Amino acid sequence: MDIHNKLRRRDFIGKTGTVLAGSMIASPVTSMMSKAATLAKKKKLALVGTGIRGSSFWGKRIVDQYGDIIEFVGLCDINPGRLEFVKGYMGVKCPVFTDFDEMIKKTKPDMVIVTTVDATHHEFIVKGLKAGVEVLTEKPLTTDESKLKQILDAEKEAGKKVIVGFNYRYTDHTTRIKELLSQERVGKITSVDFHWYLNVFHGASYFRRWHGLRDKGGTLLVHKATHHFDILNWWLDSDPVEVYAYGELEHYGRNNAFRGEKCRTCPHKDKCKFFWDITRDTMAVNLYVNNEHHDGYIRDNCLWRNEIDIYDKMNVQIRYANDVTVSYSLTTYSPYEGWRIAFNGFTGRIDSWQDIPWRKEERLNQAELHAEEMSQEEVQKSVNYDEIMVMDNFGEYELIKVDRTAGGHGGGDKKLHDKIFLNPDMPDPLKHSAGTRDGAFSILIGIAARKSIEEHRIVRIEELTDLKPMPKRL
Ligand SMILES: NC(=O)c1ccc[n+]([C@@H]2O[C@H](COP(=O)([O-])OP(=O)(O)OC[C@H]3O[C@@H](n4cnc5c(N)ncnc54)[C@H](O)[C@@H]3O)[C@@H](O)[C@H]2O)c1
Repeated sequence: MDIHNKLRRRDFIGKTGTVLAGSMIASPVTSMMSKAATLAKKKKLALVGTGIRGSSFWGKRIVDQYGDIIEFVGLCDINPGRLEFVKGYMGVKCPVFTDFDEMIKKTKPDMVIVTTVDATHHEFIVKGLKAGVEVLTEKPLTTDESKLKQILDAEKEAGKKVIVGFNYRYTDHTTRIKELLSQERVGKITSVDFHWYLNVFHGASYFRRWHGLRDKGGTLLVHKATHHFDILNWWLDSDPVEVYAYGELEHYGRNNAFRGEKCRTCPHKDKCKFFWDITRDTMAVNLYVNNEHHDGYIRDNCLWRNEIDIYDKMNVQIRYANDVTVSYSLTTYSPYEGWRIAFNGFTGRIDSWQDIPWRKEERLNQAELHAEEMSQEEVQKSVNYDEIMVMDNFGEYELIKVDRTAGGHGGGDKKLHDKIFLNPDMPDPLKHSAGTRDGAFSILIGIAARKSIEEHRIVRIEELTDLKPMPKRL
């Protein structure tokens, strides 16, 4: 970190004990004055759920990037072996706990970060709020409407706002689309086509783990599509009112002729195209394989297990309070990973896409794409720009190239972290920050879609909670 950056960070801390907005340039005098305050008042973080996301994105990356303004005071997980490994991996000296209540009581954190299995998020969000602690949770906010109600009630009672870590909003690509829509570049938007493709590596990974069980991840309509529904809600600046959906499990799970217990010991290794040798992934071995005797969490589980009860093909129709209608689909066994969107407006159309390999004649390594996407390294990516096509009715088209910032999720991960830890009061003109209302409306589309699939009917969002959908988001 350069000296200016250091001074700036210390100045923020000196003013608030955490971080304050204001001049980005600190005077050396205030910086020196605040140095002592910084050392005395690092923000105290506790984290629950030391899996891959908790240990890396909300763990090691935070320690590495913000170690001068935060400190971890506690780590919690149900798996004691994983806890010990992650403590070393993050390079922290704090105590570890298998009991969340004990961690909160003993460590008295300023903020708790929730990165457990989706269906358990509500438990720690509610407990954190009741303890008077600031809460930051990974997506999805939760997995059903009754847990959502518990969170909303606890937030109201505590008078504190929960932060939901929606990183997709923060990429340069999604931000540029938001700007064009805010400027009404193609007039009033009336409908949207939005299609997301998970490839045979990333898509398949969900069926190996707890995500394959509806009661753990709420199905991919909640676990994964919460990201997509959130950027849609944010882009359209309106709340969803009605949902109709189809969903099937046609490829993974019970659909294959053979199955094994787990990839490592599988007798069908040679003929299964989805065979994954977890022993070649050191991090996965350290996190999961070495600790599976504690909790039975088998990370390389068979994706043809009969118990899988989520959909692998999903189509959703959404109607918004501002009358925009959306056609959305999610595919989980595509040859390539990427997405495509089109906004139809009264005066033109905006098309955009990401990682469609033949579009720029790219030869992307599909197996490595997800790893690259999730990488916390500031590496130059194989693709360095994204495209947005704007075309006016009766007019010409304009191709906009958006430079892709290096780092996870097109630089979005860094921007999200900076906003939360470095400069929370930074002006937010495009409303990138997300709270429980955003978290709620994004999962409510998925929850309504699940209900629609089961009951073969249009589901109104208002059936699910007391939240009132607004034509323009609050
Ligand atoms: N925003 C993103 O791009 C993104 C990416 C990956 C994961 N995530 C989210 O992060 C969370 C964690 O995902 P992951 O991939 O790290 O999963 P993971 O399975 O690797 O980790 C989950 C951890 O939670 C622990 N756990 C489960 N129940 C617990 C409980 N009751 N108390 C304490 N610990 C418990 C498990 O032992 C495990 O260590 C999920 O909610 C997921 O949706 C978000």
